[in-house]
Amino acid sequence: LNDGLAVTPLLGWNSWNSFHDDVNETLIKETADLLVSTGLAGVGFDYLIIDDGWASRKRAVSGPIQHNTTRFPSGIATLADYVHGKGLKLGMYTDSGSMTCAKYSGSLGFEKEDAAQLAEWEIDLLKHDNCFSVPEKERSVQARYEDMRDALNATGRPIVFSVCEWGVSSPWLYGREVGHMWRTGKDISIAIEASWDGVMQNLDDTTGLSRFAGPGGWNDADMLAVGKPVGNRLSHTEQRAHFALWALIKSPLIIGADLRALSRETLLLLKSREVVAINQDPLGVAGDRVWKQGPKEVWAAPLKGGARAVILFNRHVASDDNFPATEMTVYWSNIGLPNDAQATVRDLFKERDLGVFTGSFSSVVDNHGVIVLRIATTRPTVGLEAW
Ligand code: GLA
Repeated sequence: LNDGLAVTPLLGWNSWNSFHDDVNETLIKETADLLVSTGLAGVGFDYLIIDDGWASRKRAVSGPIQHNTTRFPSGIATLADYVHGKGLKLGMYTDSGSMTCAKYSGSLGFEKEDAAQLAEWEIDLLKHDNCFSVPEKERSVQARYEDMRDALNATGRPIVFSVCEWGVSSPWLYGREVGHMWRTGKDISIAIEASWDGVMQNLDDTTGLSRFAGPGGWNDADMLAVGKPVGNRLSHTEQRAHFALWALIKSPLIIGADLRALSRETLLLLKSREVVAINQDPLGVAGDRVWKQGPKEVWAAPLKGGARAVILFNRHVASDDNFPATEMTVYWSNIGLPNDAQATVRDLFKERDLGVFTGSFSSVVDNHGVIVLRIATTRPTVGLEAW
């Protein structure tokens, strides 16, 4: 949507990956505290999103959606005050069918009442899901999402609209007209355990879609499987690759980990400022895969001012930790820079300049690993921002 919201992709936290529908006021307040005290809010992670499980099981025959008073005894308005008091924004979750995916109250037919209630509580984002709709009897998916978009608009409160229409073909074709972000695939494989193949599936579902993204509307490759202590089988190397690739394709970066149990290593990864800066670059052009040969892939995005963000990604298919690291090269011709241009190359995870190179840059990349670079010509070249 072109309304001044989500000009860059969202950065935040969502309860689903670690807690499923087991959410409550204490958890949300503790998470708000931790977003600030860990420094994550300082890096930009400022949307705190309560996913499924906050609403009552059944709704009254009339009137707006109600919260679960056992889980949220102080009420949502009070919680929103608390979250806002920390300098954060509050996101919530509803469903465009008769029930949410975990079988709490759905919003079908109650869009106006629910949007008004959510706005009165002063929420800042709504994730709207697509369970328990009966397509042949009801309006099309797009129309149901438009109903909620219009209902939110009518409240007059700026509310980011996160369209979670998984299972629908090609939502990116109309996504920008309906919301600020749309899911490009199914749930990232975290419900049972996060697996490399699962993360790669979400990446594949988003590959080639960069042209649909831009300020006000982003491809959402789903929440990050970074740092979930239980059940996350991704190695730290794999989590780094996952994080960097999501940043480059300008997916919203939404932490799914339990912040009360974050390792130092994970926290440092999430606080990789220069990698997050690619995601938040004001040019707002999403990156994509620009070259591939076997397991070697080069991903790139233009940045404001004509530099390039580049990821050298060694995506070996076998999850064999002993598979040797591989030498990889990015040629300037892969990333739309003149072949004879001199360019400074900076490693964004290490936050270190690697030198000045002409025509290409090579480095050894670990199995399932990435090297994340910023490549900028030393002399300005006209028109480089055009991709
Ligand atoms: C769907 C969504 C998830 C999560 C759950 C909640 O599966 O895709 O992201 O919101 O519903 O039940």
